[in-house]
Amino acid sequence: MDALVLNHRDCDTTSKGIRLTARAKINLSLIVLDRRSDGYHNLHTVMATLSLADALDISPANDPGIDLTCSNPSLPRDKQNLVYQAAALLAQKIGMEPALSIRLQKNIPFGAGLGGGSSDAAATLLALNRLWSANLSREELSSLAAELGSDVPFFLYAPVAVCTGRGEQVRPLSLRCRRPLVLVLPNLHVPTAEVYRYFQPDTQRGSAAVAEVEAALADDDLDRLLVRPVNNLFEPALQRFPQIAAIKQRIEKLGISPVGLCGSGATLFIPCDDEEQARKRARSINQANIAAAMVAHFDPATEPFPEVRHADH
Ligand code: C5P
Repeated sequence: MDALVLNHRDCDTTSKGIRLTARAKINLSLIVLDRRSDGYHNLHTVMATLSLADALDISPANDPGIDLTCSNPSLPRDKQNLVYQAAALLAQKIGMEPALSIRLQKNIPFGAGLGGGSSDAAATLLALNRLWSANLSREELSSLAAELGSDVPFFLYAPVAVCTGRGEQVRPLSLRCRRPLVLVLPNLHVPTAEVYRYFQPDTQRGSAAVAEVEAALADDDLDRLLVRPVNNLFEPALQRFPQIAAIKQRIEKLGISPVGLCGSGATLFIPCDDEEQARKRARSINQANIAAAMVAHFDPATEPFPEVRHADH
């Protein structure tokens, strides 16, 4: 087999296999439109990856099967885990009997709206596409990704993209975000479907909001989205989880705003002017015992697309 080299800063070869960085995301904007006949909603969202990331080590094993271990023992190691599902799906697609050892180092909080599971799944598809020399195109991988979850395809086109449809139609952007952020992590697991259940569609308002976001993109101005975060799952999330509302209110009482919501929650994000302000704000939120707060940064990538390829290409 060829020596494997991963041509992206998020990938590395080891003597045994591949190490990948699977980054978290936030939604710079999230506009949910109408409910569809398949039970999903059409949406328009701009997503961007962060430096905060999980690490995945994937190597061939002697025994058949997918041996998944995770640094967080409360996460499932079987087909309930999206990494497992991604490996099984790609294996089935190319008629491969998987024999894999996968180690997942979880750093992204789970069920927090930061896309950790989806990012892990996308990284698994990219890695196995090369490890098994499947040579599927990005589009083919993307349609497999969409079977795993609505926001999995985005991670094949990171660091910044607009996603539409139910989230699976991805338009990568060359724009980049530079501001530091504070992430506030309520100790809460939010099932996405529950928040959607509290959502009342308003197509007219939704279309107007999409037009505003597209105007900001046309002006090359992601900052405009960040400083006035639009997320119409915010109200439903606050209704369903009053704990998030209480945390938001306490942050705002400290004079800190704006406060945005990552996806359907529970993580809140606060765009900051500079590193010093971000550190100060995180310290104030932690000292007031509101919730765990940390400084975060956007993915510094200038090149598009996470990529994995053979050395001889
Ligand atoms: O696709 P994913 O598994 O991430 O979706 C989780 C749940 O979120 C879906 O079962 C659905 O209830 C809701 N959802 C939706 N419309 C979307 C994406 C997700 O209603 N575009």
